[in-house]
Amino acid sequence: MRTLIRNGTVVNAGGTLRADVLVEDEKIAALAAPGVLGPADAYIEADGKYVLPGGIDAHTHMEMPFGGTFSADTFFTGTRAAAWGGTTTIIDFAVQAKGTSLLSTLDKWHEKADGHCAVDYGFHMIVSDVNDQSLKEMESCIDAGVNSFKMFMAYPGVFYATDGEILRAMQKASGTGATIMMHAENGIAIDELVAQALSEGRTDPVQHGLTRPPELEGEATSRAIQLARVTGAPLYIVHLSASQALAAVAAARNEGQNVFAETCPQYLYLSIEDLAKPDFEGSKYVASPPLRPKEHQADLWRGLRTNDLSVVSTDHCPFCFKDQKELGRGDFSKIPNGIPGVEHRMDLLHQGVVAGEITLQRWVEVTSATPARMFGLYPRKGVIAPGADADIVVYDPAVRQTLGVATHHMAVDYSAYEGMSITGGVSTVLSRGSVVVSEGSFHGHEGHGRFLSRELSQYLV
Ligand code: URP
Ligand code: ZN
Ligand code: ZN
Repeated sequence: MRTLIRNGTVVNAGGTLRADVLVEDEKIAALAAPGVLGPADAYIEADGKYVLPGGIDAHTHMEMPFGGTFSADTFFTGTRAAAWGGTTTIIDFAVQAKGTSLLSTLDKWHEKADGHCAVDYGFHMIVSDVNDQSLKEMESCIDAGVNSFKMFMAYPGVFYATDGEILRAMQKASGTGATIMMHAENGIAIDELVAQALSEGRTDPVQHGLTRPPELEGEATSRAIQLARVTGAPLYIVHLSASQALAAVAAARNEGQNVFAETCPQYLYLSIEDLAKPDFEGSKYVASPPLRPKEHQADLWRGLRTNDLSVVSTDHCPFCFKDQKELGRGDFSKIPNGIPGVEHRMDLLHQGVVAGEITLQRWVEVTSATPARMFGLYPRKGVIAPGADADIVVYDPAVRQTLGVATHHMAVDYSAYEGMSITGGVSTVLSRGSVVVSEGSFHGHEGHGRFLSRELSQYLV
């Protein structure tokens, strides 16, 4: 099967050119000046549109157990929503429960995802029980294509790891080339602040933000960086939200340390004012780290320009308002943590291009090319080039859309971006050469997505 994408503007991280793109079966076969390639079995007209490598969301949580419930998107509904928004690869997190092994966890996550995803997917591993066995099993995970391990300095009693445990896991990562991903918030101090707030009757959702101050993200980020320095492990800070944390990352990078960071659209566009919405509406915006005062946003955009923030992922972790967020009425600490967003990442970051915050190429770099390199998928993913998987988004930069629960495809009963007006939108999406979204219809199917066994990070020096 030969499909020709005609007359579009191909946007890669490395540059932009007017070209036709020939797809043969699952792969990109050729790029050439308009009119040179053909004939083909099918044609996609891309005049006036961008032709991008499919988005790679390196941080999602489908069907994730959290706070006595599960995130609302299944691997099928979540990856279908991803496809709608131009994301053709997700990397989700397998979650080790305390007292269980990493390998049985990986098996369990394969059972959940295999045969159900609409686009390709990989896994990171959440390590919540550091012991001799799980440290040994990190090696088997790496062999199985899962070479990035998330640890938590937050959530004591659940996912929390002590500095000693983090050090041991980092030593293992250092010896194997694996990446340690860090949820960097000082959970011990935060739990004190949470207990104080509750004992004083401060129970509203905004307290979630007030009890997790940005200084405690900055402190944990600095500590993680020092532990990584001592051990020589590569470190990737997930969902960075605060100026203080960004300053720590920038300083480490200036010194040449293998430290990387991602931020998420919610930290670029939403703020603690959303958490403070009355009538428990603020619960829709509860995630950790919390939404920050607006002043942090300019620093995050700057970090994206300077590459101190290299990736934008969503941390998509949807909980319905009804029955799930509502678990925390009267006690903000019981609100399940997470914000939905897998469908909107490409569009939201395109607003950064429209507003002049980042260039067109940088948009593609932070949403596709860099996550591909960071997590060992390049050049199979993350680039429009011969030999790459034909994961392609034809993007109309001029179309207008309004985000909201009535039109989104995520299995969640609210939108964090309700009513937001967007310039640009996805026209056509190909996943490994198959059209999965076109002209407002979904043409993909459950099980089309394949597991991606990943190489080590391609950024390590
Ligand atoms: O609030 C969040 N971020 N929920 C998902 C779990 C995590 O820490 O990434
Ligand atoms: Zn986290
Ligand atoms: Zn997360």
